[in-house]
Amino acid sequence: MLVLLFVSVTLLNAFKVLYNERQNPTPYAVPEKEVVLDYDVWLKTKKKQRSLWEKVLSLKPIEQEKDLEIEHAYDGIKELNNPVPTWFNVLFFGTMFFAVGYLFYYHIGGYGDLQDKEYEREMAMAQEEKAAYLEKSANTIDENSVLADNTPVTLEQGKGIFTGNCVVCHGDKGQGLIGPNLTDDFWLHGGGINNIFKTIKYGVPEKGMISWEKNLTPKQISAVANYILSLHGTNPAGAKAAQGEKYDEKDVKDSEMKSVKDSLNQANAAAK
Ligand code: HEC
Repeated sequence: MLVLLFVSVTLLNAFKVLYNERQNPTPYAVPEKEVVLDYDVWLKTKKKQRSLWEKVLSLKPIEQEKDLEIEHAYDGIKELNNPVPTWFNVLFFGTMFFAVGYLFYYHIGGYGDLQDKEYEREMAMAQEEKAAYLEKSANTIDENSVLADNTPVTLEQGKGIFTGNCVVCHGDKGQGLIGPNLTDDFWLHGGGINNIFKTIKYGVPEKGMISWEKNLTPKQISAVANYILSLHGTNPAGAKAAQGEKYDEKDVKDSEMKSVKDSLNQANAAAK
C-alpha cells in the first residue's frame, strides 16, 4: 500500500509539472558567449605545476631544452645534459646505506647468523620438529601399525616396563609363572609383534591377563612387546611348559598368502 501511495504521489507531481509546463512553457535559455582561452596563457598555467611523475623522473619542461644542450654536435645530433632522476639517486644511495648496515650487522657486529650458521640452526630446528613428530606418531601406534624394533633404547625401555609390571605373572626372564612362558615358540594368542601388542593392549581379562591400554602408552606397549620378542629362544631356567600353538612368522605369512590366493581363486571361479 505504501509503495502504491508513493508511486501515485510521484506520478501526480510529474503530471503537475507537465501540465504547468504546457500552460506556460519556460523560454529556452540563450547560451552565453563562450570564453575562448588564450592558448599561450593556458600553456603557462599548465606548465607551472609539475606532475609527480615529472618530479620523480626529474623531467625538465620542453621549453628549457635549450638550456640543457651540451655544446657539441655530431652530424646535427645534440646531447642534452638531463639531471639524474630522483628515483635513481634514491636507489643508488640506498644501496650504499644498505651495504654499510649489512656489513655492520652480519660481519662486524655479528648480530645476525651467516649462511652456514643459519643452515645449522634451521637443521637443528627441523630435527627437533622431527623428534616431536615421531614422539607424537609413536603414541598413535596400534596393533596394525606397530613395528618390530630391536634398538637398544627400545629394548631397555621395554625391559624396564616388563620388570615393573609383568614379572609377577610371567617371571623375571619371561619363563612363565601364572602367565605363560613368553620365550618359546608357542603362543596362546599368536606371536609376532602385532599379536603380542594386541594381547598386551586388550589383555585376556577372563584368563587373568589384564588390559594394559589404560596404564601404558602405545609407545610403552610397543617397547615391552618388542622386549618380549627379544626374549624368544632364550630358554630360561625353570621355563613353563609350552602352551598354545607353535607360531612361525613365515608360516603365518605363507598361510595369509594362501588365503589371499584362495579367495582370489574363489572370486575368479564365481566370476566364471
Ligand atoms: C596378573 C598376572 C599377569 C600380569 C601382571 C601380566 N600378565 Fe600377561 N598373561 C597373564 C596370563 C594369565 C596370560 C594367559 C592368558 C590366557 O590364558 O589366555 C597372559 C598372557 C600374556 C601374553 C600372551 C601370551 C601368549 O601365549 O599368547 C602376553 C604377550 C603377555 N601376557 C604379556 C604381558 C605383559 C607385557 C605384561 C606386563 C605389562 C603382562 N603380560 C602382565 C597374566 C599376567
